[in-house]
Amino acid sequence: MKYIKTFSQDTEVSQVALGCMRIGNMTDKEADIYLSTAVECGYNYFDHADIYGGGRCEEVFGAALKRNGKLRDKIIIQTKCGIRKGMYDFSKEHILSSVEGSLRRLGLDSVDVLLLHRPDLLMEPDEVAEAFDELEKSGKVKHFGVSNHSAPQIELLKTSVKQELSINQMQLSIATASMISSGANVNLCNEDGVNRDGYLRDYCRLNGITIQPWSPLQHGFIEGSFSKNEKYAELNRTIGELAEKYGITETGMAIAWLLRLPDKMQPVVGSTNIERIKAVAEAADIEITREDWYKIYLAAGYRLP
Ligand SMILES: NC(=O)c1ccc[n+]([C@@H]2O[C@H](COP(=O)([O-])OP(=O)(O)OC[C@H]3O[C@@H](n4cnc5c(N)ncnc54)[C@H](OP(=O)(O)O)[C@@H]3O)[C@@H](O)[C@H]2O)c1
Repeated sequence: MKYIKTFSQDTEVSQVALGCMRIGNMTDKEADIYLSTAVECGYNYFDHADIYGGGRCEEVFGAALKRNGKLRDKIIIQTKCGIRKGMYDFSKEHILSSVEGSLRRLGLDSVDVLLLHRPDLLMEPDEVAEAFDELEKSGKVKHFGVSNHSAPQIELLKTSVKQELSINQMQLSIATASMISSGANVNLCNEDGVNRDGYLRDYCRLNGITIQPWSPLQHGFIEGSFSKNEKYAELNRTIGELAEKYGITETGMAIAWLLRLPDKMQPVVGSTNIERIKAVAEAADIEITREDWYKIYLAAGYRLP
């Protein structure tokens, strides 16, 4: 496992995080194995949200943490707030009550990181700022960030929010890489040139914000793994060949491709399969060549004009 520095460079985090959106149905035994194996493999960053499994994912994780108490100080726990049934809600009241709910389910007095999950179309920066101030002052949240936010939306928040916004969690996999392909097709009238994110990669690098690719093994809007999917035959063939060359698994190769970006992104892998989790940790130590990175990019069907 590789590590990167974040939160004003003062915290070392595993370059791959584990996403806990799919752990809601784990038994106690499965959750204990998931948590302890992850830590043994070098993962020290776990991503949650108040809504995952209707709150069940935080409960399962919190109970596992309680049974494995010595692990608390070794890991960073991130959660998110702001999505409600039929609406997004960044009101002070909702942010504060959401954090209370997450702390209760996780069985903790504080979380390390809180992200605003999806941009609330009715967002008032002052209200978010008041909520963050209160959470920081009470010690309930140590660091803050966003998810699915454009650069101007982050700038708008920063007009009131005093805390550093260190993280932006965004959808990104080799099969959903318009954030990357648009950078090679600036101003061109082709599909790859369509910029859907306002050149977020460049903005985040310029501003020291860590991008956390979510669903790094999925295609479409969380429609399933692209691995073994006919639609991605050429991509999977290339990934397979290169995985063999580097002596890692195909899943590991898909993550190694993201880690080769100079941005120092932190993919959030959502696997619940212990063997896959181990394989990704091993692949995180591999640095693929420039030539192989571009081979995979082209095999996914993106253009270099
Ligand atoms: N901020 C946001 O809006 C947002 C949105 C969605 C997700 N997230 C975060 O991102 C994390 C990751 O999302 P995700 O779970 O969709 O990511 P993912 O890591 O891309 O996908 C994991 C899923 O794909 C399956 N999978 C992976 N490789 C496979 C293969 N070769 N063959 C068959 N199945 C395979 C896994 O099954 P196994 O369990 O069997 O390995 C698991 O069900 C979430 O846990 C959450 O923390 C954030």
